[in-house]
Amino acid sequence: MQTATISRLHEHAGGEVTIRGWLSAKRSSGKIRFLILRDGTGQCQCIVEASHADAFETADRLTLESSCILTGTVRPDDRAPGGCELDVTGIEILHIAEEYPISRKAHGIDFLMNHRHLWLRSPRQTAILRIRHTIIRAARGYFDDAGFTLIDTPILQPGAAEGAATLFPVDYFGEEVYLAQTGQLYLESACMALGNVYCFGPTFRAEKSKTRRHLTEFWMIEPEITFADLPVLRHHAEQMTTRILRDVLEHHRDDLASMGRDTAPLEAITPPFPVLTYTEAVDLLHSEKVRSWLEGDLADKEKQLAACREELAEAVESLGTAKKAWQKEKAEQQIRSLEEHVRELETDIEHRRHHMSDASAFEWGRDFGGDEETILSRQFDKPLFVTGYPREVKAFYMKRNGQDPRVVENMDMLAPEGYGEVIGGSIREDQLDVLLERMKEENMDPEPYQWYLDLRRYGSIPHGGFGLGIERTVSWMCGLKHVRETIPFPRLLGRMTP
Ligand code: 4AD
Ligand code: MG
Repeated sequence: MQTATISRLHEHAGGEVTIRGWLSAKRSSGKIRFLILRDGTGQCQCIVEASHADAFETADRLTLESSCILTGTVRPDDRAPGGCELDVTGIEILHIAEEYPISRKAHGIDFLMNHRHLWLRSPRQTAILRIRHTIIRAARGYFDDAGFTLIDTPILQPGAAEGAATLFPVDYFGEEVYLAQTGQLYLESACMALGNVYCFGPTFRAEKSKTRRHLTEFWMIEPEITFADLPVLRHHAEQMTTRILRDVLEHHRDDLASMGRDTAPLEAITPPFPVLTYTEAVDLLHSEKVRSWLEGDLADKEKQLAACREELAEAVESLGTAKKAWQKEKAEQQIRSLEEHVRELETDIEHRRHHMSDASAFEWGRDFGGDEETILSRQFDKPLFVTGYPREVKAFYMKRNGQDPRVVENMDMLAPEGYGEVIGGSIREDQLDVLLERMKEENMDPEPYQWYLDLRRYGSIPHGGFGLGIERTVSWMCGLKHVRETIPFPRLLGRMTP
């Protein structure tokens, strides 16, 4: 007997196989039991007829999420999700599951987050995690193919690189050290030994704000490029992004469709991506174009809200007239999801009224927050590079602009559809005296950074790099509203379990 995985069942058409997995749904109809088995590679409808008395009786004992081994004949069926069904002849129970806490009815997000260890089994979550895998592979593949060397940078670090405010302290044998906010400073050292390098790893930031874009533990891929200027950084960012888009679209059509992700906006993205300076971006925020866009956008949302409320009223009416139990259940489900949608739209509208209308009042010199990024990124249907931010709002290591010392040689890449910053990067300050001056401005003690300053003492070169946040990229590709579903076990303000 051959053991098969569900995704490759079609290779065994007509043959007898065993498949192993968990029961994700069960239906019965007279003398037939329909078992939906999932094994991590896919789902398969398995049919048990009463004529196989042992199997039939065992099927009735299986509870949701019980683990079992099914034996049967593979029957091709075009209507079936994987193209095959299994006509079951035998069932071996591995474990009968206790009553499973996650049911088909809508659960609140806190409940699901508390059951993340089980929630991972749902089709939507597995689709997201498969896409995450492809994004990481594509990004690493891009740098591997471009001749970059992978460097593993330390997670325990003596100092800050992205601002002292978001450091996580760790007691290191009586000395205070910190979890890595970035691998960048170490990459800068490595690139002067090996040429172009990249790191990929977990990153920690004690972000005290609850937003849909911030985790306290997230994963980042960071290249560091020798003899680079901003156009070189943009080129790599653009090419890496294009590779990610291509691979996700090539391998995950079904996953994206199952989540209801409209792939048209992703498919339309081709290089080159537009570039604005920070100053141009501020002008855009102040422009008539953005003002009327904001008004139109608000009007759209209000129209959507009105339509949604109407639909809700109809659903409530149909609940009143429903006679059969299944009709009632269907109407109730519809009401719940419409109510949720109404709430979302109301929050959206309120948010737009209060915050987004501040665009015209945005002052040069401030950092862009999520709202400004959302407005800017929604003016373009491709990722947008914004360069030359005021140096006060950016990290100490960024190179000062030669013409305008108020700004630095940096670039952020904002994803379209309102997703905001997914890449942050810069050319590095390579002059020792300018870097020391900047550190003084930031009240940084140069002592723990002497090793980093050495890179400006022994063969300093122009160089730079960037970091791509994996979770924000997953959010964007999958069309998710919040980063909490983009990582297997999210760490957020107020969430450490499971
Ligand atoms: O812009 P950031 O802070 O840049 C750096 O860390 C540089 N050292 C990178 C470099 O030049 N080598 O972070 C880079 C990206 C952001 O654009 C965002 O995608 C992600 O990391 N990111 C976060 N993702 C989730 N939660 C957070 N709290 C994040 N902070 C940054
Ligand atoms: Mg940034």
